[in-house]
Amino acid sequence: MTESINNIAININDFDNKSVTVAGWVRTFRTSKSVGFIEINDGSRMKNAQVVFNPLDIPIKLNTGCSIKVLGVIKPTPNAKQPFEIQATKIELLGDCPSSYPLQKKRHSLEFLRSMPHIRMRTNTLGAVFRLRSIVAFSIHKFFMERGFVHVHTPIITANDCEGAGEMFTVTALPIDAIKESGYEAFQSDFFNTRASLTVSGQLDAEAFALNYAKVYTFGPTFRAEKSNTARHAAEFWMVEPEMAFADLHDDMQLAEDMVKYIITDAMEMAPDEMEFFDRFIQEGLLSRLKSIISSDFERITYTKAIEILLQSGCEFEYAVEWGCDLQTEHERYITEQVFNKPVFVTDYPKDIKAFYMRANDDGATVAAMDLLVPGVGEIIGGSQREEREDVLLDKMKSMGLPVDKYEAYLDLRRFGSVEHAGFGLGFERMLMYLSGIKNIRDVIPLPRTLGNIDG
Ligand code: 4AD
Ligand code: MG
Repeated sequence: MTESINNIAININDFDNKSVTVAGWVRTFRTSKSVGFIEINDGSRMKNAQVVFNPLDIPIKLNTGCSIKVLGVIKPTPNAKQPFEIQATKIELLGDCPSSYPLQKKRHSLEFLRSMPHIRMRTNTLGAVFRLRSIVAFSIHKFFMERGFVHVHTPIITANDCEGAGEMFTVTALPIDAIKESGYEAFQSDFFNTRASLTVSGQLDAEAFALNYAKVYTFGPTFRAEKSNTARHAAEFWMVEPEMAFADLHDDMQLAEDMVKYIITDAMEMAPDEMEFFDRFIQEGLLSRLKSIISSDFERITYTKAIEILLQSGCEFEYAVEWGCDLQTEHERYITEQVFNKPVFVTDYPKDIKAFYMRANDDGATVAAMDLLVPGVGEIIGGSQREEREDVLLDKMKSMGLPVDKYEAYLDLRRFGSVEHAGFGLGFERMLMYLSGIKNIRDVIPLPRTLGNIDG
């Protein structure tokens, strides 16, 4: 069995002078007549391990990127940069790596690296991103489990458009010609006897479960055929969606704030080397900003207030600002970066720009919605208190022209023991962008699916 480099680093005292076998890939190496050094990485941690060997005893020919197995003795080096080195007694070349290997020494741009998604995780940056991604996913489950939430697996194939925005990918087993000939009718003889799609959100199903378990969450892939070719939109992305019964918009925001702070804390504790790397090479000052966020309250303003701020800013925005308009990225960033310089909840949006399920406020013009905006990214969370009154919900759906008969199950939740309830969706990739300072969503998801791109 080979030993993981991370395990040795963490338990260095147990490995003092022990003989182990380590396997990994050669990042760099240098040899002189009497001594050779190899930086080896096995993916278990950010930092490489150093292998020291005598080229006279071990006459091995190495290349950057080749895979090797090393038998050696662990020597703790508490005063050096690395916690230990491996004094090799045997090195075996497993897979050689020719000079056509694209990751030779020089640094590549993130954009260039996207052209080889199967190789790019071997770089320090992407290696750190995907380890962080794994740790943050764990942290999210831990957060909800500690608070007694039940994890629900909501389906990926669905017949409902949760957001009502018509941005769904159709799922069909029909030959393309059948759709061409019969149009929409063709779906009646399709696999599900109706038109099916990839889900844009697990919320509607999560609501049903929240009306039994009170606190639930779902965490899975979601899909949007949204024609936005930006640095923060993906066609396939992951969403974390808690849903709570007996909770209003304020409880919802409190949960979101606690969750974001919890994730930041865990990222710094569980991925310290990765976070330090991002701070040094991706976004200067990242760590101190994140630390200050943990200890301060998030801002809370209404949409109406946000519009006032934007109108008084004296800025020339590309998209004109008036009450009733949707907030664009430039507006969101102005508010969170220029005005408050910290995370900001914007609440109580005009009803006409939000989804049908949001609870109507007494003013008749706004709904109990909340978006969380953060510096550098913009919106990372969208949530709301849900409309729990059957009559109000029915009127709303009809006025929006939704096919009411398709939402019978959803309406039942308002008929049988209806209660106040609320939830939100966190864009997992956007959270990772915020944590790492990485500017493009394509660099925080293993294989990005974006407008016009499904490579790899
Ligand atoms: O604001 P959204 O559309 O909210 C919902 O889907 C609700 N049903 C969630 C709920 O209340 N349970 O999406 C939630 C979050 C956004 O704030 C954003 O972070 C992320 O999902 N998101 C995207 N991330 C990447 N690419 C896209 N195309 C995204 N669309 C939304
Ligand atoms: Mg939103």
